Amino acid sequence: MHKSLHTHIIGLGAYLPDRIMSNEELSKRVDTSDAWIQERTGIKQRHIIAKDQKTSDLATAAARQALEDAGLTINDIDALVVATTTPDMVFPSTASVVQYKLGGVGFPAWDIQAVCSGFVYGLAQMDGMMRAGMFKRVLLIGAESMTRIVDWKDRGTCVLFGDGAGAVVLEVSDKEGGVLGSVLHCDGSYRHLLKAQHPYPGASPDDSMMDMGIDAAGVAAIEMKGNEVFRMAVSKLGEVVHEILAQCSISADEVDWLVPHQANIRILQATAKKLGADMNKVIVTVDQHANTSSASVPLALNKAYRDGRFETGQLLLLEAFAGGFAWGANLVRWSK
Ligand code: UT7
Repeated sequence: MHKSLHTHIIGLGAYLPDRIMSNEELSKRVDTSDAWIQERTGIKQRHIIAKDQKTSDLATAAARQALEDAGLTINDIDALVVATTTPDMVFPSTASVVQYKLGGVGFPAWDIQAVCSGFVYGLAQMDGMMRAGMFKRVLLIGAESMTRIVDWKDRGTCVLFGDGAGAVVLEVSDKEGGVLGSVLHCDGSYRHLLKAQHPYPGASPDDSMMDMGIDAAGVAAIEMKGNEVFRMAVSKLGEVVHEILAQCSISADEVDWLVPHQANIRILQATAKKLGADMNKVIVTVDQHANTSSASVPLALNKAYRDGRFETGQLLLLEAFAGGFAWGANLVRWSK
């Protein structure tokens, strides 16, 4: 690992599907209300993927914008990684589809599955590989079509999720700044609290699908014990923000922006409080996007970048909590 090398974010992009579903519209489908959703989650609306779109389409659009922002083409890229929970297919990887759609060929492309923490995991992984000298420029994308895997009859989960993609171009160089460090965790003893089962759980060639109670669509649906997930998210995120700061020898008051995974405004508020940060230091998109899983951190990054909120030299703390449970954080000195 080259201590003198640093991984920088040099381009950002995003894509959100055109169709917007308001809480009002949702309340005509399930027994809920705009007031309940806003009060308990902070969500006002979510974007919904079009019938003829796939996760790779959202990822490709976000990646194109990130490449343009970096002033590069796909030919300048050495590796492409898509963090996703909602791949186009079981295989090949969504990353290989995105590589093809962008006109790239030859360089490695693969998916990362760490659910809502996929982008944070991906940034940690790429930072390590890039500083080890494997790649100079990487496209890292978080892309999801979560509304394809929600149970639209379950008001406890269907109000929470949305679709979208965010992308960054990473470049390694000897310039100071960029990714300062990452912390990753997983505790599989909580795996049952937030999950979407494979469409054909444990199927053998002799099983009848009908006997297994699988509907015609055979779609995996999200199941969540909301309260327990909430409690653990608040607890573990409160710990991990201090862990990353200690690892990088940075004090909490030096953090300029908290860029959190966007699951619930109350989780964002609780994490900000544990950091001792005012809410005006927190990038909030959950009201507009809902929970877009691995896309939520890069979507929030892109939004604040496009709004002109980040200044060179500022400190950004990225964090996420996900099914698994898998959680983590990255500390980034903005160098764009
Ligand atoms: O991205 C990965 C991480 N995911 C998360 O971090 C999600 C974490 N969990 C949460 O954000 C919250 O637990 C929820 C938003 C999912 C639920 O909020 P809550 O304040 O924990 O509500 P609850 O589950 O305790 O339910 C309270 C009441 C229940 O009614 P009763 O039993 O008190 O009569 C629910 O049936 O609210 C009811 N309820 C709803 N009412 C209207 C649950 N969902 C809805 C709904 N509309 N959509």
